[in-house]
Amino acid sequence: MKIGIPKEIKNNENRVSLTPGGTFELVKHGHTVYVETQAGKNSGFNDESYVKAGATIFPTAGEVFAAAEMIIKVKEPIESEYKLIRPNQLLFTYFHLAADEELTHAMIDSKAICLAYETVEKDRTLPLLIPMSEVAGRMSIQEGAKYLEKPQGGKGILLGGVPGVKPANVLVLGGGIVGTHAALIAAGSGAHVTIMDISLPRLRYLSEIMPANVDTMMSSQYNIEQILPTMDLIVGAVLIPGAKAPHLITKAMLKLIQPGTVLVDVAIDQGGCFETSHPTTHTEPIYTVDGVLHYCVANIPGAVPMTSTLALTNATLPYAILLADLGWEKACAKCPDLKAGLNVVKGKVTFPAVAEAFGLKCSEVKL
Ligand SMILES: NC(=O)c1ccc[n+]([C@@H]2O[C@H](COP(=O)([O-])OP(=O)(O)OC[C@H]3O[C@@H](n4cnc5c(N)ncnc54)[C@H](O)[C@@H]3O)[C@@H](O)[C@H]2O)c1
Repeated sequence: MKIGIPKEIKNNENRVSLTPGGTFELVKHGHTVYVETQAGKNSGFNDESYVKAGATIFPTAGEVFAAAEMIIKVKEPIESEYKLIRPNQLLFTYFHLAADEELTHAMIDSKAICLAYETVEKDRTLPLLIPMSEVAGRMSIQEGAKYLEKPQGGKGILLGGVPGVKPANVLVLGGGIVGTHAALIAAGSGAHVTIMDISLPRLRYLSEIMPANVDTMMSSQYNIEQILPTMDLIVGAVLIPGAKAPHLITKAMLKLIQPGTVLVDVAIDQGGCFETSHPTTHTEPIYTVDGVLHYCVANIPGAVPMTSTLALTNATLPYAILLADLGWEKACAKCPDLKAGLNVVKGKVTFPAVAEAFGLKCSEVKL
C-alpha cells in the first residue's frame, strides 16, 4: 500500500505520525512510504533518517495526499487540508469528531474512510489514548514542581524535601492512567502522595502497586475538603467517559487552599475538574485565582514531542501495519479494535456518538 505522512500543521503540534523505525517496518512489509519534507523535524527525525529507512521524501503535503492510499496523521485535518483528501482514501489519525461539527461535515463530504485513534477499543480500553495519558500524567508533576518554585509564583517548596525537611504533599484526583503516572513520578521524587478515586477496586489495586509514600482515599467532597489545606500540588485526572468532568474543587473551596499551591487540571480537555479552570496553552500555561496557581494546558504531551511521538507510534504502528497489509475492510473485519475506530465511511457517519452529537443518521459498516 502507498502510505503518506504529512507534516502536522496545527498550531503548536510538533509530533509526527510515523518514525523512521515505523517506516522501516512498513517498507519491510512491502509498502511504500511518502513523507513530507521536515515532517519529523520537531520530533528529532530528519529527512535523511526517513530515506535511510526506505521512505521517499515529497516537498509538499499536496503531493503526499495525492499519492497515498492511506494517510497517517496525528491531529485531525484542518481546513487547508480538507481539499487534499480524496474519496476512498483511508485517514488514520485523532479526529475527536463529536466535538467538531464543521470537521464532521468536511469528512462526510470528502467520502474518505476516517478511522479515529480515539475510538479504537481493545478489551474496553482505548489503546491509542493511553500513551498520551501516560505522558500527560508524568508531565503534570514535572510542570507542577516547576510552578511550585517561588520565582514562578508558587509556594517555594521542593517536592522531595531534603533530609530533615518534610517533602511536599501531592493530591491526585482520579487514579486512572493519568493519575497513576502522576502519582508514580511524584512518589519517585520523594513527595507524599494521596490518590483519590471513586472506584474501590481501583484504589485496592493502586494500594497494592504504589510505593509506601502513596496513600489511597475514597474521593468525596468531605474527604477533599479535609485534605485541601495541607496540599502543595493538586492534579486533576478524573474521567467519566462521555461526560464533562465533575467539579471536584469549586471556587468556594479555593479558600481552603494555601496561596502558592499549584493546581494542574489535566482533565481540562473534558471541561476540567476544578470550577475555576479554563484551557491554557504552552505559551501561557498558568494563571492565578485567589493566590492559587492553575495550569490547564489542553495538549500537555505537545511540550515533549520527542517522547510523545515515540509513545504514540509504539501504539499506532501495529494497527497501521495491519491496515496496510490487509486494506481497511479486511483489517477491520479481522480486528474488532480497528472496526471500533471507523467514524465516517465514504460519506456516512458510522460511529453512534458522532451521529448523535449532530443529529445525523448512523449507518452500520458492512465488511
Ligand atoms: N490535558 C491533556 O493534555 C491530557 C492528556 C491526556 C489525557 N487527558 C485527560 O485526562 C483525564 C484522565 O484520563 P485517564 O486516561 O487517566 O482516564 P481514566 O479513565 O484512565 O481514569 C479516570 C479515573 O477517574 C476516576 N474518577 C471518576 N470520577 C471521579 C471522582 N469523582 N473522583 C475521583 N476519581 C474519579 C475513575 O474512576 C478513573 O479511575 C481525561 O479527561 C483525559 O481526556 C488530558
